[in-house]
Amino acid sequence: MLKEILDSAREKISLTTIIKELQDARVEFLGKNGLITQEMKKLGSVSAEEKKKLGQEINKVKQELLSLIEEQTLAIKKAELDKRLKSEKLDLTIPSRPEVTGSIHPITQCMDELIQVFSKYGFDIKDGSSIEDDWHNFTALNIAENHPARQMHDTFYLKQKDAENKSKLLRTHTSPIQIRTMENEKPPYRFIAPGRTYRSDSDMTHTPMFHQIEGLVIDKDIHMGHLKYVIIDFIRTFFEQPNIEIQFRPSFFPFTEPSAEVDIKMNKGDKWLEVLGCGMVHPNVLKNVGIDSEEYQGFAFGLGVERFAMLKYGIEDLRQFFDGDMRWLSHYNFSSLDIPSLAGGLTR
Ligand code: PHE
Repeated sequence: MLKEILDSAREKISLTTIIKELQDARVEFLGKNGLITQEMKKLGSVSAEEKKKLGQEINKVKQELLSLIEEQTLAIKKAELDKRLKSEKLDLTIPSRPEVTGSIHPITQCMDELIQVFSKYGFDIKDGSSIEDDWHNFTALNIAENHPARQMHDTFYLKQKDAENKSKLLRTHTSPIQIRTMENEKPPYRFIAPGRTYRSDSDMTHTPMFHQIEGLVIDKDIHMGHLKYVIIDFIRTFFEQPNIEIQFRPSFFPFTEPSAEVDIKMNKGDKWLEVLGCGMVHPNVLKNVGIDSEEYQGFAFGLGVERFAMLKYGIEDLRQFFDGDMRWLSHYNFSSLDIPSLAGGLTR
């Protein structure tokens, strides 16, 4: 009888895999109504001699079961620990999750670089708004009512009207910032004005929205020599090429006289590439903002940021700037730490 109990207890205990099962087995054999306890109770009804012998046997079995339970407890705990260690192990060979870090858009990068070069000559930065009126975008800039320049610009007109009941529009260039600054502040002026500009044009070399930087310098003794110095030095500094070839080609803008377009040649044998328009501010423009052109004169220029970015970073297709293709953007991967953003808030 005792032997059977012992055998079945050994088997049960050795098969337990969790502490709860082991506790159940302990209760089954050694608990208040356990099988061994019941055997002990039987001792009351046997002879003294039998009692001694049986008592010792039961005790032996009890001790054996107690130590079996203890061993099994340790075994279960060890197995649990092994299992945990296995499942929680750190596999240092697993590649880390890819981290997606944003980067500065090439246009913003280029604007920042352009602005930084102009800070060298002490230029301020002015801001303007995308929506303009006829006066600031055209009339005050000496662009006559029926002047072909108004068509030349392929303007986006809005339904909204200005005070003179003329349609408001999306500015076709950054030149209205010249007018607004001269209307609001006293001369002298020395600033650049970066921003978005809009023309109803879309093909390989034109997008309906693009970016310009306007420049204006007005004082009592400014002449064409200053204009040439700033433009030549700025182009060489920006492209980091002291020997770049630069030519001023006579041109026409209603708001400058004389006017010039500036062409550059990156390498010998290349074709001339037009990069910006400039000139001495037309006396009519100064008159329109109440400045005496006998006392003050100066120069203005306007450049296309996309053109400068394409030349400097080797970008072939203008439209890629605005496709929003993550692969293209991450290829350029300009870091915000490359140069401090002087344009903060203006261009983003
Ligand atoms: N506003 C002219 C354009 O958009 C550029 C320019 C600016 C030319 C200032 C001369 C002086 O084409």
